[in-house]
Amino acid sequence: MDIDQIRQDFAALRRSRAGKPPIYFDNASMAMKPQAVTGALMRYYELFPTAGGDGRSVHWFANELREEVSKARMSLQRLINAQSPDGIIFTKNATESLNLVAHSYPFQQCDVILTTDKEHNSNLCPWRNLEAKGRLRHEVVRSNDDNTFDLETLKKRIRAGGVTLVSMVHTSNLDGYTIPAKEIIELCHAYDIPVVLDAAQSVPHKRIDVQELDVDYLAFSVHKMCGPTGVGVLYGKKESLSRLDNFMVGGGTVADTFYHREPLYLDLPWRFEAGLQNYAGVIAAGAAAEYLMRIGLENISQHDYELNRYVSEHLQRYEDIEVLGPQDARLRGGIITFFIKRLGLGDIGEQLDQRNNIMVRTGTFCVHSWFNARSINRNITATRVSLYLYNTIDECKAFIETLDEIMYETKDFPRVEVMTSD
Ligand SMILES: Cc1ncc(COP(=O)(O)O)c(C=O)c1O
Repeated sequence: MDIDQIRQDFAALRRSRAGKPPIYFDNASMAMKPQAVTGALMRYYELFPTAGGDGRSVHWFANELREEVSKARMSLQRLINAQSPDGIIFTKNATESLNLVAHSYPFQQCDVILTTDKEHNSNLCPWRNLEAKGRLRHEVVRSNDDNTFDLETLKKRIRAGGVTLVSMVHTSNLDGYTIPAKEIIELCHAYDIPVVLDAAQSVPHKRIDVQELDVDYLAFSVHKMCGPTGVGVLYGKKESLSRLDNFMVGGGTVADTFYHREPLYLDLPWRFEAGLQNYAGVIAAGAAAEYLMRIGLENISQHDYELNRYVSEHLQRYEDIEVLGPQDARLRGGIITFFIKRLGLGDIGEQLDQRNNIMVRTGTFCVHSWFNARSINRNITATRVSLYLYNTIDECKAFIETLDEIMYETKDFPRVEVMTSD
């Protein structure tokens, strides 16, 4: 990977503030956009800004648009090696994709859905809501102490019976750890249990092959993979998507409607894409998929790891810093979340930003439930560094040096433990 060359593609990385460049380490939240993607967005608005991606209009512009949307769907298909482009449903984001499954799956009362204990709110709230309405029971597989997946506990729970669906975060946005999805899916399938993967953090960073994984449903957002905002994907096997009720219906989903009988719905993928779509975003999503495939997903994973190892090794030298999750950087993709075990530090994110334009995320990363279940001391804030293909070792050095300054200035602050006893 030629990082200098890659960085040229990202206009935002060429900005400066107070004479210093941006150091963008908040990629788990949102990735920067290369020119290939912003150009694709503009292509729609400048060349064929019309409706008709679904085939309703048959004129010149609509035909060109239809061609572009179909190409984008095929790019996404290739990115995750889906069997067919019809298995790619465009949604607004991963959250909508997960809600689509939750609200369309044919649950029966007393059904049990299993998740991990590290779910992003987007793969937790939909299930908690359905539980509150008495539609199902939500159970949690608690992680091991080092936040890795406890396959033995899952085995015991699956063998005990009664589980209808398993929906799990593939790569955690909390600590970067990736669950053993293939083993989990094999185990669940042996008991006829379909599996949903929340792949919001894995698809942008790893080669994902849905056929090799044999996963039933896979949800992700395009904005974390250098694509535009407002586009997500729900992948499903044909038979898995066919089991879902299309809960959002209307224009674009039907072949015919009547007053005396049910509407006649279109086939996949159209019956899940109601209303005029975000065509600009969809076309740009295709451009983002092509961009990542050109660079190579294996190269991206390796680059993430090399930077992660560098940062982790430095952080692990501080007695007062605790890196969350497994200590081996190879198991944490591009994410390093850590606690500084000192009181009264203020927001490290603000300090890094103010001192050297270093943009990280602090707080609970939409995984509040994990913090609450583990009695994490809320007086100390977690800080997350999340890396991506355009980040460099020099940026990591600048981060370590800036953090070192902060650590030195605050070395006499009172020490506390991360876990509270209450
Ligand atoms: C693991 C995980 N799941 C789901 C989501 C939700 O993504 P979106 O807000 O794009 O729907 C995120 C976003 O941070 C995430 O990290």
